[in-house]
Formats: sequence, structure tokens, C-alpha cells
Amino acid sequence: MDSDYDYSAIKEAGHISYEALKYAKGVVKEGASVLEAAERIEKFIMEKGALMAFPVNISINKNAAHYTPKFGDTLRFSEGDVVKIDVGARKREYLGDCAETVDLSGEWAGLVEACEEALEAAISLVKAGREVRDIGREIENIAKKRGIAPIKNLGGHGVERDDLHASVFIPNFDNGDSTRLEEGQVIAIEPFMTNGSGYVSDGEDVEIFQKNGNANSRLADTREISAFIDESYSTYPFATRWLVDKFGAASEFKVRRALNDFARLGILESFPVLVERKGGMVAQAEKEMVVQKDSCEVITA
Ligand code: CO
Repeated sequence: MDSDYDYSAIKEAGHISYEALKYAKGVVKEGASVLEAAERIEKFIMEKGALMAFPVNISINKNAAHYTPKFGDTLRFSEGDVVKIDVGARKREYLGDCAETVDLSGEWAGLVEACEEALEAAISLVKAGREVRDIGREIENIAKKRGIAPIKNLGGHGVERDDLHASVFIPNFDNGDSTRLEEGQVIAIEPFMTNGSGYVSDGEDVEIFQKNGNANSRLADTREISAFIDESYSTYPFATRWLVDKFGAASEFKVRRALNDFARLGILESFPVLVERKGGMVAQAEKEMVVQKDSCEVITA
């Protein structure tokens, strides 16, 4: 880790993310608007003096991750929904990342508890020198014990300055990777569990994007939207609705056209909703931590 790494900034980002997650659990209620919930959670983070590391993800049932409401989204939480909230605050280039599952019916407690138990067991293994496959094996064993599957093509990750999904990958099963954790490294561990296939695929909805590069479009609207993204979100992920909020309800067409332009120019990364392949129910838990010599310090606390 670089010598000028600011651990107090990452801890602050982690703490605000955790506070936002606690707050979020209170806004997820049967009948409530998912869009309003997202807006309230994001406002909470900004009122704490942080920015968004990424748009809040509110992924329901078979959607494992990357659902954030569209502009004017009419979706409401329904009876029986299993709601994953994945939230991250940003302090300068330091990124928080944590998640929990709200089970509105209580019928999926086994799935939710499996994620939480696996996360705590995984955290107890974290220390400098630990091979990442050991963590994955622990998560997988806890899933198996309960007769469910870990999601194998999702996992934890290193968190570097400016980069939420850096270098090290922390699997949710024993993938044979003997990469060792390093002292001072910041990582997030995120077991996902399902009664389905154990794999996710890209769905059709995409509302989260990231722009990496300049848009020399001939369209003034596109250039204006590009400049706003550079100034407000830099190369961090943003939501389509944030742009429509900024440019007005009538701008949705221009915003979509600008995104198409960026994609055509090869400067747009998109994050489609990730859907359980067999439509299985999905739960998730995630915490972020600093690896220490003999243990770790959870910072989303
Ligand atoms: Co994460």
C-alpha cells in the first residue's frame, strides 16, 4: 500500500457507508417506492459530507446486484421481497462498500443468515498471508451446510484509491487461488447465496454507467452532459436518473443519446443488472476491512 495512503479517510468512508446501510434498512418497507428509498439513502450520504462511491444498489429477489431505479421508476417493495442494499460513500478517492439483505416476509431467514454467518466466518479468517481460496472455501462450506449455493461468479474484491474492484478477488468458493492477502490492504468480502444455480448473468436493465475518457461529440447536448459527468462523477459510476435529475425531466432522450454516443466512442462502461440464472432467490452481506498482521479491522462499522 502506498505510503501516503490516508487510512482515516477510508475509515470515514466506511463509517458513513455503514450508517447509510443502517438508515436504509428503515426505508425498505412493503409498499414504499424504490426510487424514493434510493434518493433518501443517497441524500443521507451527502448530508454526512461524503459523495457516492456508486449509485445505491437496491436489488430485489432474483436480481443479485446493480439494480438502481430509473428516472421516474414506479417500482414498489412488495410483500415477500428479498432486498439487497449495497451502498458506498466516497471521501475524496477513498471508497466505502457494504451491503445487507432485508427480508420483508421473514420467509428467507435461512438464506439471509447464511450470508451473515459466512461473512463473519470469512472475516475471522482475514489476516496478512491468508490465501483467498481459504476464505472462499469457508463461505462455500457454510452454504452447503444449509443446502444452498454460493454465487460463484460474484465475490469480494480489493478496494484501492479510485478503484472499487481492484486487484485481488475474494471468491465465494474454493477457486484454487492461492493469492495471499497483504497487511494494510483494504478489501471487501461479499458472500451471495441462492436457492438457484449459483451463477448470475447480465440482465437487460442497465442504469449504472461509468465514463472513462473524453467525448468529442459533434452534439452540443452530449458535450454538455459529458462535461457534467467529468465534473461531478469523474470516472466513478453514476446513475442515468442523476443525469435526468440534473438536466430536467424532458432531457431523458438527450441523456440516453449521450450514453449511446459514449458507448460508440468506447468510453462507457456499463453495469447491467445481475440476475440469478435460474431465477433463484438471492441474499447478500458485505463488509469492508483493512487487513492486519493477525486479523483485520472492519471499517464499515
Ligand atoms: Co463490493
